[in-house]
Amino acid sequence: MAANTLILESIRLILQHQTASGAYLASPAFLHYQYAWLRDGTFTAYAMNRVGQHDSAHQFYAWCASVITAHEQKARTAIRAVQAGECGSKSGNELFLHTRYTVDGKEVAGDWGSFQLDGYGTWLWGLAEHVRLSGDEAIIDKLASAIDLTLDYLAACWRLPNFDCWEEWGERIHPVTLAAIYAGVKAMEPYRPMRAAELSQLAATIRQFVLDHGTADGRFVKSLGNRAVDASLLWLTVPYGLVDAADPLMARTVAEIERELLWGCGVHRYAADTYYGGGQWLLLSAWLGWYDVQVGNSQRAKEIADWIVSKQEAAGLPEQVQDHLLAPEQYADWIKRAGQPAVPLLWSHAMFLILADELGLIGSETKNAALP
Ligand code: BGC
Repeated sequence: MAANTLILESIRLILQHQTASGAYLASPAFLHYQYAWLRDGTFTAYAMNRVGQHDSAHQFYAWCASVITAHEQKARTAIRAVQAGECGSKSGNELFLHTRYTVDGKEVAGDWGSFQLDGYGTWLWGLAEHVRLSGDEAIIDKLASAIDLTLDYLAACWRLPNFDCWEEWGERIHPVTLAAIYAGVKAMEPYRPMRAAELSQLAATIRQFVLDHGTADGRFVKSLGNRAVDASLLWLTVPYGLVDAADPLMARTVAEIERELLWGCGVHRYAADTYYGGGQWLLLSAWLGWYDVQVGNSQRAKEIADWIVSKQEAAGLPEQVQDHLLAPEQYADWIKRAGQPAVPLLWSHAMFLILADELGLIGSETKNAALP
């Protein structure tokens, strides 16, 4: 299959699985992902902005705002508890906002590491990108109260340990989560002039905290107290912009990611990953390609894009592929426990679109087409 066919198929598939509420289903066919995540959703909306589907992105951000507003009381209670130093008595999921919701904005019951702050920073970052790419400035006023509530919430909570972008390690602090918060706060600075000084100060403090505590051996680390690398550290530069792509800290981090986590064009999440045997995540390969374009290595970025195209299954792009497993003995167990791995994963399609756009593979006729 050609890249162009997968580009069109990805747009179609994402629009097909955006619900009437504006939410994107993470993976329509995988039982555990039939919900909407702020993280997956924002990158999906960002891909939609990049291919000219601004209305889809608008609807998603309106959904985010409606969900956050619906849980305002919970957010305000959490903010007060954190400010009073009283957040120890309730478990994370009871006190803090969740990371995934049903498509109509309800919390999902059950045991899940739902206290994750990165999505709250990410949606604010994505919202600013939506305005930049579509010119839809009016959305800011429309969503103002959810924006301010999110900023209050992040300002109160950013230093707390919370689950990482893989929904693990809830008792740790993760540089990539802090980078997402940094990016969200920074992105809102121009749009909240009354709070500009406060936001600028907050962003600078978070950035400095990451530089002071989130590095070891001259590179970034997976979490404070864990010196391993994690491929999501790529996000520190694209898109979160905490450091430039050429920053020596980042260059050394990427070198370590390549050394530990890259096999062919496939990127693993982290060396100790056992989820579905610890396969290679297409969205992370696309991320490496996105980074490559920033540092002038378009050749590898193209190879990665072709590799992703070769991984398409009948139902679409999967979350991960099994060509090289880090913990092969765990694979069958996961199948037994949770079913076949997620396919299609909307986030995989979104990241493919972003990479394709970075490589100039998406023509204006596609960007202007009003696909159903
Ligand atoms: C991943 C998350 C993702 C979720 C939905 C989880 O397995 O670790 O990053 O948001 O799936 O796709």
